[in-house]
Parts: sequence; C-alpha cells; structure tokens
Amino acid sequence: MRSDDLLAESHSLPRHEAERLLAAATGRNRSQVVLGFDVTEAEAAEFRSFIRRRGSDEPLQYIEGTVPFGPVTVRVDDRVLVPRPETEYLFELLTSRPGSPSVIVDLCTGSGNLALALKATFPDAEVYATDLSGDALSVARMNAEKNDLDVTFLDGDLFDPLPDHLRESVDLLVANPPYLAESEVADLPRDVLMEPRGALVAGPAGDELVERIGRDAALWLSPGGTVACEVSEFHADVVISYFKDIEASVVKDLAGRDRFVVGVRTVE
Ligand SMILES: C[S@@+](CC[C@H](N)C(=O)[O-])C[C@H]1O[C@@H](n2cnc3c(N)ncnc32)[C@H](O)[C@@H]1O
Repeated sequence: MRSDDLLAESHSLPRHEAERLLAAATGRNRSQVVLGFDVTEAEAAEFRSFIRRRGSDEPLQYIEGTVPFGPVTVRVDDRVLVPRPETEYLFELLTSRPGSPSVIVDLCTGSGNLALALKATFPDAEVYATDLSGDALSVARMNAEKNDLDVTFLDGDLFDPLPDHLRESVDLLVANPPYLAESEVADLPRDVLMEPRGALVAGPAGDELVERIGRDAALWLSPGGTVACEVSEFHADVVISYFKDIEASVVKDLAGRDRFVVGVRTVE
C-alpha cells in the first residue's frame, strides 16, 4: 500500500498531524512522508492505531513518544506534561545570554526537559531538578539516561529536597510550575486534560506555586544569580511582587504575551 492512500484514510485529522503520526508509525522522517513510500501491513496497522488514539484526544506527542527540546530529545507519556514551545523559548533566552552558570536548579522538572537541555548546554554545571511526582521523576531519569546527561533528580516539594549546601549558591534557578486555577480546568482542550492534573493546576487561585517560588528564590540564589519562572499571562502583573530581594521583570513570549518572570538576586 502507498503512504498517500493511508493518509487519505485519516481525513478526520489535520493533514500535518496525520503526517507526523505516519512518520512515527513507520520510522520515516517528514520529508520521506511528503514524498511518499510503500507501507507494510504492520506499519499500516500501527498507523491506524495511532489515528484511533489521536481520535480519542490523546496528545499527539504522547503517541509520537518523543519531543525535541533545544539540544535534547525527551520521551513523554501520560506521566508528564508535554514540553511547550514557550518553555523552549525561555530556555533559548537563558542560554543566549553571556556567562556559564556553575550551579543550576530546575523546580517542577516533569520530563526533565529544561534540566537536561541546560546540562547539555552547560556541561560543567552541577544540575539539580525537583518534582513532587515520583512518576514524572521516573520519566526524567529515563530521559537523562537516554541523553547520557548527569542531572540529580530529587523527589519533593519545590526547594525542600535540595541539599542545604546549595543555599545562596545557585547561579540559575528555573521553574515551569503548574499555574492554572482550578476554575480554568473546565475550559481546557480535551487533549490537555489528558496531561497530569498535578502538572497543570496549582490551586484555587493558580499562582500559589509561583508565590512560594518567588518568596524563597533569593534564599537559594548566589549573589547576582538569575531566577526565571514561567507564569500565566493572567498573573504576570501580580506575581512579580512575589519575588523578594530580586530585581525582576516580566518577559513576553514570541506571541507577545506576558509569560515569564526573570530576575536577578539583588546584593545588599
Ligand atoms: C507545568 S509541569 C512542567 C514540566 C516541565 N518542567 C516542562 O517545562 O515541561 C509542572 C511539574 O511540576 C510538578 N509539581 C507540581 N507541584 C509541585 C511541587 N509542589 N513541587 C515540585 N514539583 C511540583 C508536577 O508534577 C509537574 O511535573
């Protein structure tokens, strides 16, 4: 069977999604898919099962199984949030600045995407990452192994599992915490609802975790160290005041939305 005939069967999906799923099902790249090729029975069966899963609103990236993120590729499944382009943009912003951090911490690491991309970029840095979800940490540790990168993953609430000796010595603190309010869940697209709720929702207000990160960041940052936290565009004006002893500003994403708080620990 020709790949074009198979793609024609999947008219319920946008063409670009069907092409991505065909590439994933057959181990081909997108250019090969666009050019067309002969598909085996087994490949066709795999593709059709992928189409059914996507038809049940499973996130495309869970079906594909991997997501490229800066210099790394991470495996993703329903234990972790799918890394978003906005977060990759934050990574690019942070790594395009001069200087090399020696100690990096990633709070709320999920699949480990930020921690691993930062370790790949700054191979001499000590990198620590925390998450409250043991399931997410299993994925992150698998991703460290797949990418052959040495990151210390710690199980626990925000800063709690970090070793004490890191106090006032973190040069770069990054976080993409959950930042949705409980009331926002009802409006989420169905595929987003299949991602772990604990990765999306922070509490009744949505900014609970950002507030705690802002309150304690300066206790862990080295003098002049940088904190960068992804936030909801609806909280950006409020959350900046949560960052104590930090000279912070709001940074926009590529779509012009207020999506990050980036700041430097002020030195007295
Ligand atoms: C929005 S996801 C971010 C995942 C990844 N860093 C990314 O950018 O794609 C948030 C992650 O924070 C974790 N999390 C939620 N509450 C936490 C807490 N109090 N302390 C540490 N991690 C937490 C969730 O388990 C989830 O993996």
